Amino acid sequence: MAGPRPHAAAASPRGRGPAAVLTLALLLPAVGVSAQLPRTPLDCRRACVCASNIVSCPGANLASVPLALPPQTAVLDLSFNSLGRLRDDWTTVDLGRLHTLLLSHNELVFLSYEAFGHVTELRYLDLSSNGLRQLDEFIFEPLEHLEVLLLYNNRIAQIDHSAFSGLGSLRRLYLSHNQVARFPLELVKERSRLEALQLLDVSSNRIKVLPLHELQALPAWLKNGVYFHNLSLPCSCELYDVVAGWNLKELSSVTDFKSSHTCLLPGPQKERMPILDLDKAHLNCTEVTMTNEVAYLQQYLVLDCDTRQKDVTKSWVLPGNIPVSQANKSAEIRSDGGLQIGPLMVNDSGVYTCYATGDNMNETLHVTVVVFNSTVSGGLENLKTAYTTLVACIISVVMVFIYLFLTPCRCAFCPGQGLEKDKASDTPHSSTVSIPQAHRESRAEGGGFPYRQVAFLDPKDQLEQNGRLNPIHEEDEECKGFSGERKRSEAEAGGAPMVV
Ligand SMILES: *[C@@H]1O[C@H](CO)[C@@H](O)[C@H](O)[C@H]1NC(C)=O
Ligand SMILES: *[C@@H]1O[C@H](CO)[C@@H](O)[C@H](O)[C@H]1NC(C)=O
Ligand SMILES: *[C@@H]1O[C@H](CO)[C@@H](O)[C@H](O)[C@H]1NC(C)=O
Ligand SMILES: *[C@@H]1O[C@H](CO)[C@@H](O)[C@H](O)[C@H]1NC(C)=O
Ligand SMILES: *[C@@H]1O[C@H](CO)[C@@H](O)[C@H](O)[C@H]1NC(C)=O
Ligand SMILES: *[C@@H]1O[C@H](CO)[C@@H](O)[C@H](O)[C@H]1NC(C)=O
Repeated sequence: MAGPRPHAAAASPRGRGPAAVLTLALLLPAVGVSAQLPRTPLDCRRACVCASNIVSCPGANLASVPLALPPQTAVLDLSFNSLGRLRDDWTTVDLGRLHTLLLSHNELVFLSYEAFGHVTELRYLDLSSNGLRQLDEFIFEPLEHLEVLLLYNNRIAQIDHSAFSGLGSLRRLYLSHNQVARFPLELVKERSRLEALQLLDVSSNRIKVLPLHELQALPAWLKNGVYFHNLSLPCSCELYDVVAGWNLKELSSVTDFKSSHTCLLPGPQKERMPILDLDKAHLNCTEVTMTNEVAYLQQYLVLDCDTRQKDVTKSWVLPGNIPVSQANKSAEIRSDGGLQIGPLMVNDSGVYTCYATGDNMNETLHVTVVVFNSTVSGGLENLKTAYTTLVACIISVVMVFIYLFLTPCRCAFCPGQGLEKDKASDTPHSSTVSIPQAHRESRAEGGGFPYRQVAFLDPKDQLEQNGRLNPIHEEDEECKGFSGERKRSEAEAGGAPMVV
């Protein structure tokens, strides 16, 4: 908002003379409040409360950050003021011990590139409920220790792909209630993602397209913290599959906001529908169920223990409550916590259980394995043989017909005819033969491929997960005391995105 006004004021004096200068003089105080006001030193009597390493000045009507903040300040609360810009010189002293900076409910429209160079130890930064419109590249780069960043309820429409680079410790990022139109996939995607990130809230934005395929590929502990309700997504069965699948796995990002997960129906009215109701009315989406792992004799399977929590200790129990032992060569726990079983036999079918033990909660996952009493190769080999026989048979018949009707040989019985005729009839012969050959080859290729596809069909994501527990969003301190499987209620988990 303050952007256009100084421009207009600066342009007018050149053209118009004294009257314009007067206008400018009148305008200036209104234009750059924070720039023009003399900055006041810290007032620990009226505006702020200073308690050892805490400086707290909420609602003090401050238009600029007070000067001469004590260098030992660890917590600085400037919320509910009227700060408009965070310039590179907002503090004249380096605040090397500051770990919490609260700037919510101000009028911030501008963050200097160097604004955070003085506070590199920051762990918690609240910029929510301001007027920020865009996040430039590398804007938060100095904040390598930052763990929580609140940016909800601004007017952010543009996020540079590198806006959050350098935030190697960031665990929770709140971007809801903005005007973001692009899902920031780079923050969660394998390889480019922020290493420590466990919660990304982009709900209530203007996002119209989600990268559903990539979201589905995320590990459950990350899906659990990707909040994307109340967007303007068009209804589709692909969207239903994702939301219904996450709901079935009891991932908080869906279960805590079931009714807010809406989509827009096609048509001029753009009616809003709860996504989870899509299968019943309007779109006939197939019901999402937890499918089991299916396999054939002699195959190997790797069962994934896709937990909702990161960094947990995983152990497996075989059907019939048999623990995995070193002696049993047919079941082996891999380094990533998955269980490899095989070569499979029919009696390996059953429910395999993964127990994940974490600091804050335990999780139990069940994977049902069904082993068919046949080998994949056997079944396909038979089909393939049958198909080859059929093709060969058809080709033989064609060849017989060619032989009977098109061979040049019958001319050999006509002694009156010369070599020319022979040659003339040669051409149709060879070309006719070449057609079925090409036909056969293309059929063989096209026909063989689907079988190969079937053979590679790997029901990877068909994992039954039956976590009974409510997830915890990194609320380490608050939750240390919790033990026992079901103590945390859904309501507590539901408050997570806004509670810090
Ligand atoms: C949903 O999003 C719209 C705009 O994106 C916003 O105005 C509204 O407050 C949001 N609703 C809820 C319940 O957050
Ligand atoms: C959905 O399926 C029902 C019956 O199964 C059918 O009557 C209805 O027309 C279908 N709706 C659409 C949109 O395909
Ligand atoms: C499974 O079947 C195989 C033979 O088919 C047998 O050797 C093995 O003991 C059986 N295992 C169990 C647990 O029944
Ligand atoms: C070994 O593991 C298989 C599953 O892969 C299981 O069916 C079998 O009962 C186990 N045998 C023993 C002796 O634990
Ligand atoms: C598997 O199939 C074979 C024959 O193909 C049969 O003899 C055997 O009993 C079957 N095993 C089971 C467990 O059904
Ligand atoms: C998780 O399970 C372990 C072992 O069963 C137990 O010692 C621990 O207290 C449990 N933790 C929670 C949070 O339930």
